[in-house]
Amino acid sequence: MRVSDYKGRLIYAKGTYVEFVVAPGQDVDFGDILVVEGKSGDRFYIRSYDFKVKSRWSGINNVGYLMNKLDGEGKVENQEELEFYLGGNHTVKIGMAEQLCYADAESRLFNPKTCPDFFCEVRGLSAADTALLAEMKGDLEIGFLKSGRGVLELPVGIYGSKAITEHIGIFGTTGSGKSNLVKVLAGSVIDNGNYGMLVFDVHNEYYRDLARHPGVKDRLAVYNANPQAEYARRLTLSYGEVGPEDITACATFTEPQFDAIYKLSSVLAENWVRDVLQYDTADIVDELKASTGQKFQSPTISKIKSVCWNVKNELNIEEGGQSVVGDMMAELEQGKVVLVELKNVSPVGELALSTLLSKKLLGHYAAKTETDRRAVKPVLIVLEEAHRFLGRKEHSSNNVFARLVSEARKFNLGLCVVDQQPRLLADKVLSQLNTLFILGLASKADRGKLEAMCRKDILQQRNEIKNLDCGEMVVATNYMRFAAPVKVHKFEDYLGRCHGVMG
Ligand SMILES: Nc1ncnc2c1ncn2[C@@H]1O[C@H](COP(=O)(O)OP(=O)(O)OP(=O)(O)O)[C@@H](O)[C@H]1O
Ligand SMILES: [Mg+2]
Repeated sequence: MRVSDYKGRLIYAKGTYVEFVVAPGQDVDFGDILVVEGKSGDRFYIRSYDFKVKSRWSGINNVGYLMNKLDGEGKVENQEELEFYLGGNHTVKIGMAEQLCYADAESRLFNPKTCPDFFCEVRGLSAADTALLAEMKGDLEIGFLKSGRGVLELPVGIYGSKAITEHIGIFGTTGSGKSNLVKVLAGSVIDNGNYGMLVFDVHNEYYRDLARHPGVKDRLAVYNANPQAEYARRLTLSYGEVGPEDITACATFTEPQFDAIYKLSSVLAENWVRDVLQYDTADIVDELKASTGQKFQSPTISKIKSVCWNVKNELNIEEGGQSVVGDMMAELEQGKVVLVELKNVSPVGELALSTLLSKKLLGHYAAKTETDRRAVKPVLIVLEEAHRFLGRKEHSSNNVFARLVSEARKFNLGLCVVDQQPRLLADKVLSQLNTLFILGLASKADRGKLEAMCRKDILQQRNEIKNLDCGEMVVATNYMRFAAPVKVHKFEDYLGRCHGVMG
């Protein structure tokens, strides 16, 4: 890229709004981020969002005069003559833009402070814009800054220490590039070493690509309840680890069933799931009656037995068996990426497992003293199709993910919610996501929802968001001064770029 990519001259400014004339032969597109060079070494960063074309012929009388040069049907009679009238600098394209931020002569970045002067030079972004680029680069690289129709080789990413515990949302229609983005994020986390990441891999789609990353030997752990290959460790749990929440997360229960689950876990204590499976329904009914005075119906207990049985089998809960949870927590706090492959687990087991592991992690971090917590890495929990856990209808105030959203930042944990349809998520959840990766969203209702919930004013980028192609996104995060358009690296390209791994 050229150092100074001349684009035009500033011709009007009011507040944070500016207009500039686009230099002849230059391209400026909707959404381009440009620089206005101030008079004293300072810089104004602007984003163009609209255009108008003006000419000395624009007045109605002049338009009439030009029209006289056309034939009766409005067609051009003499092209050469018309070009004579329209040529030269008589016609200009004016870009309309909004000031995003301001860098003083010492390259310190501020929110807009003042207006640029008349006829200052406007140019494209370049590697010289170090202050702005440093803010956008982060320590977890994700892609390159996109200008209207091209990609600038300027890396964009997030600062994990700020973004992870403030929660992340990844939204996009099917095929828009969500999974690829999670892979790149995981790749960056592996490279960085200062963060852990727990990924619930619903389609077993991540290992194949991540395996090509040179850092996986030390920094990636894969678990699978029924591993078919060597790379994955068999996932096993113990009875004592299963709480009532893990069971209630798996299916829809009636009020009495719900009640019975909590009563059972309290009456039978630690190994309640084992006892529920071992004892006859009638005995359990009697036991509950004796301890709580409540008489539950046998179908209520049978249903609970059945769900517990499924969970036990799918998640390899064995009497006296070893559990992998402790190791997994240790891996996460050391800053590894932990993949939990769920493809062959039924929805029941999947819900139970995601709930259980997230709850364990929350408990594990919450139990630490401040000093201990400083010694462990922040962990990001990636949850795909998140509306299943955090939907509008879910009693989401008492499930573990809702708790994670509202409490986790205190404990150095964060949630990364991935979904095709953000409108299905509870408002309470959306409003807590402080970093949004907005990929292509086909539905207007989904885009509207994000516009309404996003703290950054992304309304001005409405057109851009509507037209995002596969792998393109707008990143809005609360510590960046403006939302940035990004072309996410294709995972293979990321490996090639950062590690010289060829596809
Ligand atoms: N940043 C990118 N650059 C180039 N190609 C990409 C990029 N991101 C994704 N793709 C391509 O688009 C296809 C779909 O991507 P991906 O699987 O990530 O979509 P998705 O949003 O996860 O879809 P789904 O919701 O169906 O899971 C992939 O085959 C991938 O190669
Ligand atoms: Mg996907």
